[in-house]
Amino acid sequence: MDYRAYIAARIQAGGLSREEIAEAITVPPDPSLGDYALPCFKFAKALRKSPAAIAEELAAQYPADSVIESVAALNGYLNFRVNRAGLAEETLLSIEKQGSEYGSSDMGGGKVVCIDYSSVNIAKPFHIGHLSTTVLGGSLYRIFNFLGYRAVGINHLGDYGTQFGKLIAAYKHWGDREEVQKGGIHAINALYVRFNNEATEEMEREAREYFRLIESGDAEANALFEWFKELTLAYVEKIYERLHITFDSYAGERFYTDKMQPVIDELEEKGLLTESQGAKIVDLEPYGMPPCLILRSDGASLYATRDLAAAIYRKKTYDFEKCLYVVAYQQNLHFKQVFKVLELMGKDWAKDLVHVAYGMVSLEEGAMSTRKGKVVWLEDVISRCVEKAYTVIAEKNPSLENKERVAEQVGVGAVVFGALYNNKIKDIVFSYDKALNFDGETSVYVQYTCARASSVLFKAREAGIARTDALLPPCDAEFELVKALAAFPECVVSAAKNYEPSVVARFAVDAAQKFNKFYIECKILQAETEAQRAFRLRLTEATLTVLKNALTLLGIGVPEKM
Ligand code: ARG
Repeated sequence: MDYRAYIAARIQAGGLSREEIAEAITVPPDPSLGDYALPCFKFAKALRKSPAAIAEELAAQYPADSVIESVAALNGYLNFRVNRAGLAEETLLSIEKQGSEYGSSDMGGGKVVCIDYSSVNIAKPFHIGHLSTTVLGGSLYRIFNFLGYRAVGINHLGDYGTQFGKLIAAYKHWGDREEVQKGGIHAINALYVRFNNEATEEMEREAREYFRLIESGDAEANALFEWFKELTLAYVEKIYERLHITFDSYAGERFYTDKMQPVIDELEEKGLLTESQGAKIVDLEPYGMPPCLILRSDGASLYATRDLAAAIYRKKTYDFEKCLYVVAYQQNLHFKQVFKVLELMGKDWAKDLVHVAYGMVSLEEGAMSTRKGKVVWLEDVISRCVEKAYTVIAEKNPSLENKERVAEQVGVGAVVFGALYNNKIKDIVFSYDKALNFDGETSVYVQYTCARASSVLFKAREAGIARTDALLPPCDAEFELVKALAAFPECVVSAAKNYEPSVVARFAVDAAQKFNKFYIECKILQAETEAQRAFRLRLTEATLTVLKNALTLLGIGVPEKM
């Protein structure tokens, strides 16, 4: 049951809508105050009364029933206490009934949400800077699908641009087919870096010529380009697999080569294009932005031109309800410009385009620089974290079977969680030690909690204890856990509404903490009565189900034993 909606339906407060009231309801930080609270200061202005007076009045009117047992006004808050056994029963039943679907809904009604994420650049390193877009996008993809939307994952490949001309020039001068085939992306990147360091003017000229050849469909240049692309994708796909990331489309920038002219024509027709020093631009000065460059003076299209074509193509192809761009905040201006231009073109759906911006990830050891070829490859970060995870696990539990597999789940999980735990716009400094701390706010803490729950359930099964529907009025620790589990569905919705998987990550840590408190305070297998033991086992199993669902939405695996 959605308690917020339940409470809001029973409150009449001037002209405030049920939704407004429901949204304002919070969970008090101190559970002794109540299970839910309505802060009334938010309504003081609208109702022209003091928060305390509003709270008093609403408390007097509220019809307490078997669901909400008591209501009290305190310091401008209206505090509600729910019926504990009722909430426990309802929560456990829906977790047990829905299992791995608990928290899902059909809210989306099959509507399409396009998500542009990871969007790697061909022949360039897949570095730690791509971590957030990849895992944030991947998680949003799962979250939207879980809520009944149809998510379309798009890898808008960076496969267009003069750098491919440079690469071909470098390959022609210094490259060796076998070496590049074997070295893959690293060999390609080395050629590119060498070009940037050593290219003569003559080579720069060649590079421009090769780029022109790619554009004009020259067979050899295109074959080389396709080969570089293949090698890059083969490489990144291995990483996607480790991170549990998938896409429905790899339509990248090149895909829009023949789709830009109609956009340019339309801009022209609508009188939006102006000339400026030989280039074609859309003037955005009235909106306080620099102009959006559409064509350079040499006639070449730009990143923005391709994004305009891509947005129009996506709308036509998928008829999306929303189209998300999971891209670093450095591109704030770019997306503001592109969205504005589409709006000026009269695309009423421009309002459905969302730039999901996020902050930088760096390593504790120091900043990274891509330009000089000193790059922190994402693969290396993952592998190092998995290695460290192995050491930690082997030390904690030397007799554990499948240590490699567990280390992979723990290490990869730690990297993913590191990027998803904080509010996405924050810059993050990734630390291996912190990410692998069993007692921290970490994925390994949550995974370890799952393993703990699994182990209790395993022992119960071994002892031949049958599952029952036992229900008792929960004690404090049990009830805190129940409340946490009950909040999962709203957390998933909130994560989707705010494009913020961190809500789910924080949920997981919170629920795990509540479980561990319960585990320490309440004896499960050694409970005093059989009914108590059965009820606690039920709670344990429900916790495991919900934590698994949360970690799955984040793209993190759950080892059975640790
Ligand atoms: N490849 C670009 C980069 O690495 C990101 C592309 C984002 N998506 C988009 N439609 N512009 O900066």
